[in-house]
Amino acid sequence: MDNHNSTSDGDDELQHLVVKIVDEQRPKLRVSELSRVLEPSGLSILSEVSVEILEGSVVGIIGPSGSGKSTFLRALNRMWDPPKHTVFLDNQDIHDLDVLSLRRKIGMLFQVPALFPGTVADNIRYGPKLTGKKLSDDEVTKLLALADLDSSFASKNGNELSVGQAQRVALARTLANDPEVLLLDEPTSALDPISTQAIEDTILKLKKTHKLTTVIVSHSVRQIQRIVDIIYLLVEGKIVEVLRPDRLSEASHPMARKFLELS
Ligand SMILES: Nc1ncnc2c1ncn2[C@@H]1O[C@H](COP(=O)(O)OP(=O)(O)O)[C@@H](O)[C@H]1O
Ligand SMILES: [Mg+2]
Repeated sequence: MDNHNSTSDGDDELQHLVVKIVDEQRPKLRVSELSRVLEPSGLSILSEVSVEILEGSVVGIIGPSGSGKSTFLRALNRMWDPPKHTVFLDNQDIHDLDVLSLRRKIGMLFQVPALFPGTVADNIRYGPKLTGKKLSDDEVTKLLALADLDSSFASKNGNELSVGQAQRVALARTLANDPEVLLLDEPTSALDPISTQAIEDTILKLKKTHKLTTVIVSHSVRQIQRIVDIIYLLVEGKIVEVLRPDRLSEASHPMARKFLELS
């Protein structure tokens, strides 16, 4: 009887653990003591930055201009090569991954979109084509819809678009690679409110439907409060505060207070 009970308890415990593991978000990206020093000046632009970015989370990076936000973001998909053993995707050192496949897994958008010459559909088909896949018209339409653009955009030329529309095309083009992580470097700071909202909506939708992990640099408090789960404040290359978006007013670092006052 005792024996039976203890077995049953053991099973319960195991079941509990399994549920816990399934429920828990795992780190999608792990950054460990990442530093960058510029040679020959010796200027330190990132200093022992360590963060875990959970799968399916939306992480906001804020901080003054020149604090290292873009440098941090660009390390994650090897736009510059971080030192070995500092950046891990799914627990694998990104140095051990082929750089092109890494960049397909970790897509990136910048402040100003740069479309390739040709039509919107050409742009969206570009990434998959590199891996020998031809997207159908239907697939192109679906990707456009994801970025809140209707199918009439497919045949338009990149240079006919507003910057907001072009940014949404750039987003659809990135999503065509079926990325697991999106890096967004001030993606809406040059955009109109409608395009800004479309991009925010897409990030939230993909978080729900695809567990897409997103890291966004933003200067907009409203944007941060609307879409991010956690905020890292970067000042002079160091993470000086970690904040919850609903507790921004509790920030204690003077730079965080300034950010809140000025935004
Ligand atoms: N490749 C580079 N060469 C020289 N200086 C750089 C380079 N990349 C970044 N910096 C400098 O590093 C600092 C951080 O830059 P950046 O990451 O772009 O900051 P942020 O995105 O927060 O504005 C700045 O002082 C910038 O001038
Ligand atoms: Mg920047």
